Amino acid sequence: MAYASFRSIGAYVPERILSNDELSKMVDTSDEWITKRTGIQERRIAAKDERTSDMGANAAKIAIERSGVKKEDIDMIICATISPDYFNMPSTATIISTKLGLSQVTAFDISAACTGFVYIVGIAKAFIESGMKKNILIVGSEKLSAITDYSDRGTCILFGDGAGAAVISATEDKSEAIVDVNTGSDGSYADLLMTPNGGTGSAHDALESDKVCMQMKGNETFKVAVRTLTSDVKEILEKNSMNSDEITHFIPHQANYRIIKAVGDALKMRDEQVVLTVAKYGNTSGASIPMAINDIYESGKLKKGDMLLLDAFGGGLTWGSAILPFMGE
Ligand code: UT7
Repeated sequence: MAYASFRSIGAYVPERILSNDELSKMVDTSDEWITKRTGIQERRIAAKDERTSDMGANAAKIAIERSGVKKEDIDMIICATISPDYFNMPSTATIISTKLGLSQVTAFDISAACTGFVYIVGIAKAFIESGMKKNILIVGSEKLSAITDYSDRGTCILFGDGAGAAVISATEDKSEAIVDVNTGSDGSYADLLMTPNGGTGSAHDALESDKVCMQMKGNETFKVAVRTLTSDVKEILEKNSMNSDEITHFIPHQANYRIIKAVGDALKMRDEQVVLTVAKYGNTSGASIPMAINDIYESGKLKKGDMLLLDAFGGGLTWGSAILPFMGE
């Protein structure tokens, strides 16, 4: 039987830093408010001509190189994004494949907002375990600055740009396998976090609609996020007869320090288990979890065999968690 193994990680962050002080000149807010309520100190903003696919391809090149898998042996690319190069088509995954010099490869995007990366870990696992694919490149890439309303202080302080990628490969060794991926959704909460314009559900004509920007009911989203992120982890640990002590690194979606702290405390995670990058990157939606994994990898804290627990929550509403040993070198 083929098992799916998480082989490598890579990430890319754009150069430009947008500070809280700069945002204070754009909307009625302050560094003190943003830091206290979110833990975010700065976020990265992509250049005008830098696309989601450019950032995704940059992260992917690093992930492929670190995986030891030959580029030509990648047989599928999945991209999680809510800020694709083009809405509808072509998919950002196909553009990434061309930028990597790959052809004849299955490539598609998925839309699960901030939970996107956990969803694609699950999809890759299923394709590999079924025997259909052997080496899958998964990418979370976001240019959220392109869909952020910089006159709305409730959202513009939160979001940033960046990308992360990983290679998931087939193995016969069960000890290297992704343990489990648990995902879900509840569409009845759709209006908490959405981009209301630009699609066929828009109140405006889809082709004449306003700029596509995110809108969020922040406080309500906050409460559902804490509840869902906590119950989601309890469920996956219980399902696999594991406890939080067996987790080396807990990697929650980086939305708000207060959410992460509340969830970490509820799950009795020790501070050193909890990975935090929200201060320097803000919320990068589908890119947030792979960027955080890359952060501990590049700082030398992530070692081969370490057990990771991923936990995400986002628009849809969607949620998901995953338990997997990191099998990169
Ligand atoms: O990634 C997907 C999931 N997303 C999330 O999980 C995000 C969840 N939400 C949040 O992170 C928080 O709800 C926010 C950071 C967005 C807001 O923090 P909050 O503590 O929930 O604030 P609030 O919305 O309850 O607003 C409290 C006050 C309000 O003023 P009044 O009515 O008390 O006078 C807001 O108008 O804070 C005001 N406010 C701000 N003040 C300064 C809201 N945004 C700002 C701001 N600067 N940027």
